[in-house]
Amino acid sequence: PCKCRRPKPGGGPRPTRLRPPVAHPEPHRLKSQTAQESQVPMHRKLFVTTALPYANGNFHIGHIMEYIQADIWVRYQRMRGHAVNFVCADDTHGAPIMIAAEKAGKTPQQFVADIAAGRKQYLDGFHISFDNWHSTDGPENHELARQIYRDLRDNKDGSLIETKTIEQFFDPEKNMFLPDRYIKGECPKCHAKDQYGDNCEVCGTVYAPTDLINPFSTLSGAKPELKASEHFFFKLSDPRCVAFLEQWTQDGKLQPEVANKIKEWFSVRTNPDGTTSEGLGDWDISRDAPYFGIEIPDAPGKYFYVWLDAPIGYLASLKNLLTKRGESYDAYMADPKLEQYHFIGKDIVTFHTLFWPATLHFSGRKTPNNVFVHGFLTVNNGEKMSKSRGTGLDPLKYLRLDMNPEWLRYYLAAKLSARNEDIDFNADDFMARVNSDLIGKFVNIASRAAGFLTKRFEGKLTNQFGAMGAAILADIRSESDAIAALYESRDFGKATREVMLLADKVNSYVDQHKPWDLAKDPANNEALHQVCSVLVNAFAVLTRYLAPILPSLAESVQGFVGLDMGKWNVDTNVTAIQPYQHLMQRVDVKQLDALFEPPPAPVVEKVAPGGEDIAPTIGIDDFAKIDLRIAKIVACAAVEGSTKLLRLTLDVGETDDAGQPKTRNVFSGIASMYQPEQLTGQLTVLVANLAPRKMKFGVSEGMVLAASHGDEKANPGIYILNPWPGATPGMRIH
Ligand code: MSP
Ligand code: ZN
Repeated sequence: PCKCRRPKPGGGPRPTRLRPPVAHPEPHRLKSQTAQESQVPMHRKLFVTTALPYANGNFHIGHIMEYIQADIWVRYQRMRGHAVNFVCADDTHGAPIMIAAEKAGKTPQQFVADIAAGRKQYLDGFHISFDNWHSTDGPENHELARQIYRDLRDNKDGSLIETKTIEQFFDPEKNMFLPDRYIKGECPKCHAKDQYGDNCEVCGTVYAPTDLINPFSTLSGAKPELKASEHFFFKLSDPRCVAFLEQWTQDGKLQPEVANKIKEWFSVRTNPDGTTSEGLGDWDISRDAPYFGIEIPDAPGKYFYVWLDAPIGYLASLKNLLTKRGESYDAYMADPKLEQYHFIGKDIVTFHTLFWPATLHFSGRKTPNNVFVHGFLTVNNGEKMSKSRGTGLDPLKYLRLDMNPEWLRYYLAAKLSARNEDIDFNADDFMARVNSDLIGKFVNIASRAAGFLTKRFEGKLTNQFGAMGAAILADIRSESDAIAALYESRDFGKATREVMLLADKVNSYVDQHKPWDLAKDPANNEALHQVCSVLVNAFAVLTRYLAPILPSLAESVQGFVGLDMGKWNVDTNVTAIQPYQHLMQRVDVKQLDALFEPPPAPVVEKVAPGGEDIAPTIGIDDFAKIDLRIAKIVACAAVEGSTKLLRLTLDVGETDDAGQPKTRNVFSGIASMYQPEQLTGQLTVLVANLAPRKMKFGVSEGMVLAASHGDEKANPGIYILNPWPGATPGMRIH
């Protein structure tokens, strides 16, 4: 029977909904991982999110890492019987997405819907158990953002919103204000060209876009103009805000390294450009149309800056979920028991620990219980991830290569701690940890015992473990609280090491009791039964300890040992097993090679430029023999009797013996391309020292240069050269 409490599919189309309506729990949600365990004592009510990814690209491995970290924590909480709502959404608003959509020839709405449609394969692929995926452009977010703004504006102790007129660069062609990243120009310090509006990549100077020399809009190339406009500010400098945030960020809940970093924001500090700032500044929360975003109430043409409405998207996704389930969002949020947690990366800390709690608190809402900050994932020794160099780890390619998602989950768990520090995916380390630890130490325990139990004992286990077996099991079970505490505090690396130490103990028990030797003599049947029963029980407990990390493996083990692996309950013994089926393959080095092999360069058929190969190399001396001169076509005429030739009269600046200007007569096969009157008066290039050649129509005193394709039939056309203005007849071309 289906215990799933997933909502019935609602009315209209919901493009960003990830899972099709299901009548059964999704594959990797274990039986008791639903919100139903309300009988459990110490029952907690948790609202958990990961950062909302920008909807301008697919996931990269850094996103997946964040989702895996949060998912492990959430699955652990569900195993403890706590009720979790784990949600995310696409972060859809802002200028970059609006511009990307325009470039792609789509509306922003269509653009972000297309990105959203690609999310499911990653999330399912890596067993991420979000309860909902929504969009910051959904109606819930529009409504919530506008209400929260009104609450800030109408705060009973004095408004926290204020307007100021500021001057900003405006693109007169695009008719829009330009974010700094769309302005380029010459660095005022080192005069490097083509530098961005906020800092110079050549000399590192930080400046305002207005400091750039010859600034231009990267959108249109136009010269930006300064234009005044009214902006809305969140008064973070208000003493109420400062006092609240100092308390909120320094009361010990945040990771120490995070809290310390934030402290800087409250004190007078020196900016990178040498200026000083006095504590918290007001936050500009508005942008002018055209902008893809949420319109500010009572301010037509003004939109919320994307970072104002993005975190509100957490609430919007939750509201969307609860509404689909027929539950009340307001009642849910009003429950004082509710705990709210956000998993984020280190680059977005200020938004989540200053702006976001202030937004919530001063609009009269609950603030997060905590914000969990992780470092960045790098790949193969910290090389910056880059697709073209093939050093990145493409999550979809990983899945396509049939690599087990739980290898990655285990590997990342083994490297993750509660600290805000970067971690590196290293291919060799990955293979070693998966093959020797996960499979060598843990998975193999089951395979060593299962065959004997099935063949010799009809799959039945005994409760008689012997003194040593009983001691081992007791030892393993006694670690339950310690390991639980490590999950709770997000010390997943320590948790996996703890489990591997226990697996080591089990393996030395195996080596001492050698079931394969016991099996040789029927007189040892009882001992064999005992040893194998100990092993399977130990395996079942260790599987529970790893279930938050390995949900799919835990599900297979659930079928194998007949115990509910979705509960953090390690005391029940296994009584019988189903025949063992292989639980997990080893990593094959070929898979890793393929994963990091750079994508093959596109095959291009090599063709000669312009239809013919470049001529053999010559020295400069050879070239110097050819005397090329600027020539003025003073007259040009058709040649009677020839459809190909034009007769050119050229001035090359020469004079005759009497000092009178002298011209040259040159025939050129360009009649198919030019009318004589088109060429008269034009400058061109003459090979001036070519031996005169007697032709049917007269002597040609040189040759004008013209371009044509090697394959004249396929590419007819011959084009004479036309020097840049300023060149005068007789100048030599070097
Ligand atoms: N849209 C904002 C977040 C809004 S939250 C209200 C954003 N999006 S993002 O797509 O750039 O990043 C999403 C998350 O991925 C962030 O938590 C970010 O720190 C994280 N990561 C981005 N690159 C990462 C790694 N290389 N490694 C780990 N996490 C990384 O920021
Ligand atoms: Zn510079």
